[in-house]
Amino acid sequence: MGNMNVALLVVCFSAFFISAAQAYSFWDDFRMFFGESVAKFPGPKVGQTVTLGMTKLTGSGFRSLSPYMFGRFSMKIKVMKGNSAGTVTAFHMASTSKNWCELDYEFLGNVSGQPYSLQTNVFVRGQGNREQRINLWFDPSNAYHEYGWLWNQNQVLFLVDNIVVRVFKHQKGLPYLDYQPMYIYGTLWNGESWATRGGRDKINWAYQPFQASYTAFNIHNSCKVKNPLSLTQIQTCYKRASLSTYGQGVNLILTNKQILELRKIRSKYLTYDYCTDKTRFAGRVPPECRKNWP
Ligand SMILES: *[C@@H]1O[C@H](CO)[C@@H](O)[C@H](O)[C@H]1NC(C)=O
Repeated sequence: MGNMNVALLVVCFSAFFISAAQAYSFWDDFRMFFGESVAKFPGPKVGQTVTLGMTKLTGSGFRSLSPYMFGRFSMKIKVMKGNSAGTVTAFHMASTSKNWCELDYEFLGNVSGQPYSLQTNVFVRGQGNREQRINLWFDPSNAYHEYGWLWNQNQVLFLVDNIVVRVFKHQKGLPYLDYQPMYIYGTLWNGESWATRGGRDKINWAYQPFQASYTAFNIHNSCKVKNPLSLTQIQTCYKRASLSTYGQGVNLILTNKQILELRKIRSKYLTYDYCTDKTRFAGRVPPECRKNWP
């Protein structure tokens, strides 16, 4: 590579760095898409924290302006204190076409004094049924914690404060999230029919409005797709991934540290796992399970 090219690369690299460092403002990348009347969101060009609300009339939610194909995505979230039974505070990514892909974090509320469950799920080709639930090692209503994904050609990591709580690997012959870009969503909604103790604890509306705050929006240098149906743009994201930190080297496989983290999650914090739900899939373990727990 000539000196010219190196210089050009340095220039491009710093341009990326600057845009990544500035991408913290809600309005740069997101808009409310329902329940604006019960949410508190920053005015254009100011503030960064969005507080979603839910009353008996409506929940609320925001969504990214564009979808993304691979990258690293994170947000800091603080859920409500007190009686949150029946509420679901969610942070997820999803595509909007047929055979959609989706990655979910869902905080399932609880009656006062009882802990939240954090449910994760993965949809590929429009099919989910891959729920896992963990107890967190902290109280998510006490302070902001970071939740995010690293998503590339090889694997999806679910990261809580940078600790891997789940991996979904690209395995030969099995469906993977590599064909549709996904939007990013934050939502707060009524899940009382199922969320808390299997739907036994309903929402107590005496505590409305329910609120959850999201801040530190960070899409890092993830690959934005302007037109989700453009194959060329998706291909550009493939190329971009292999040139970016999120899509190469250490991020293509689990590190030893991450393997230990996952083993600890499984032995200490996991409370439900579709992989071990014998009654659910006619006694058959879903094929991806074996390799998704190291
Ligand atoms: C709520 O608390 C109960 C009792 O501690 C627990 O069994 C349950 O898993 C908790 N979470 C949810 C979402 O029901």
